[in-house]
Amino acid sequence: MGFENLVFGKKDAHELLKEYGSPLYVYDEVTLRQRCREMRNLLKYPRFRVNYSAKANNNIELLKIICSEDLDVDGMSPGEMHLELMAGFLPHRITFIGNNVSPDEFLYAVERGILVSVDSISQLETLGQVNRGGRVCLRINPGIGAGHHEKVITGGKNVKFGITVEDLPWAQDVASKYQMTITGLNQHIGSLFLEPDAYVEAAAFILETAASIPDVEMVDLGGGFGIPYRHGVEPRLDLVELGNRLDRLINDWVEHNRPLTVRTEPGRYVVAECGALLGTVTAVKNNYNTVFVGTDIGFNTLVRPAMYDSYHEISVAPATERHYEEYRQPVYVVGNICESGDILVHDRVIPCCREGDALIVHDAGAYGFAMASNYNARPLPAEVLITSSGNVRLIRRAQTLDDLWW
Ligand code: LLP
Repeated sequence: MGFENLVFGKKDAHELLKEYGSPLYVYDEVTLRQRCREMRNLLKYPRFRVNYSAKANNNIELLKIICSEDLDVDGMSPGEMHLELMAGFLPHRITFIGNNVSPDEFLYAVERGILVSVDSISQLETLGQVNRGGRVCLRINPGIGAGHHEKVITGGKNVKFGITVEDLPWAQDVASKYQMTITGLNQHIGSLFLEPDAYVEAAAFILETAASIPDVEMVDLGGGFGIPYRHGVEPRLDLVELGNRLDRLINDWVEHNRPLTVRTEPGRYVVAECGALLGTVTAVKNNYNTVFVGTDIGFNTLVRPAMYDSYHEISVAPATERHYEEYRQPVYVVGNICESGDILVHDRVIPCCREGDALIVHDAGAYGFAMASNYNARPLPAEVLITSSGNVRLIRRAQTLDDLWW
């Protein structure tokens, strides 16, 4: 499963880098399908659907696989919805969960029959003007947040997302002014929890809220399901325990209220572990007793460590056989961007590196390529898929220098 053994189907890291260029995103179809199935089986509740949150990775070939595994999707922008439609998702399998979007962006979804969620009264007014008489979901802010970093907590006070419960009567008034029916409630309290209490608490809260809005037929509990980035140290999220707790809550609700479709919105859990980022060591130096391993993986290619101090396991595939490859030392692994914050690995003991070695950054499938940029005028890398049969398929070509100006 995944690339722990540093084998990529029938190839090794050096062969892939030679063929497709460095750096390179690599995805494993077997792991992706496995994670889709784990999410789909989270609940025993029969009217349960998973919306994959495509902001984590919107490569169209991965979306096609996710579609074939019978997950639905959420889209954050016309761009994401466009890719999802191209990948084969029918409009009824897409929910537009935007934030501060324009009337034209709402229109994009409305014209295609895609259900829209709004997260402020102001946006409800804007949607009402382009979707009079239609259906709408409200994103609520349950007052509870969770996540691996302050920047990814999306529920509670001082975050920009959602409508507070106190404002719901007002939202109902605005919806009726435009003859819109509130058919769904959704929430997302934050990204990356490994301990389920806050998620279950927020689920109880949204269900309680749904009880008081009679037309609500769908409740979306949000994403945030974490993965253990620190291998062998962090535990895996216990999906069985989480699923049982959610099943109990939902069955109890349905017994006392009415039928309900329940959704979750995982992004990271579905795609993080199927992806690795390969790169090359370009320089090694010792400055004032700190060893810097320079690579072509700058924060333009993977921004998570620079942006959130995120941890990714890293492996080294030496370019040549060496008798000292077992020798390890504390290093900073740094990129090729003109900023001192361009640090991929912060003061960690890893195997000794030499110029030309390949580096494998693990669990890079979520918020890796999706957040990559052209900073310092560096072209975006290619993406390849290791198919279930072990073959390599190019699923996005690397940008060229000419792609940078147009
Ligand atoms: N639903 C909504 C409305 C969201 O905003 C998000 C993520 C998700 C679902 C999926 O969350 P997930 O299951 O992937 O945690 N760039 C950060 C994560 C930002 C998440 C933004 N919203 C990172 O690299 O950790």
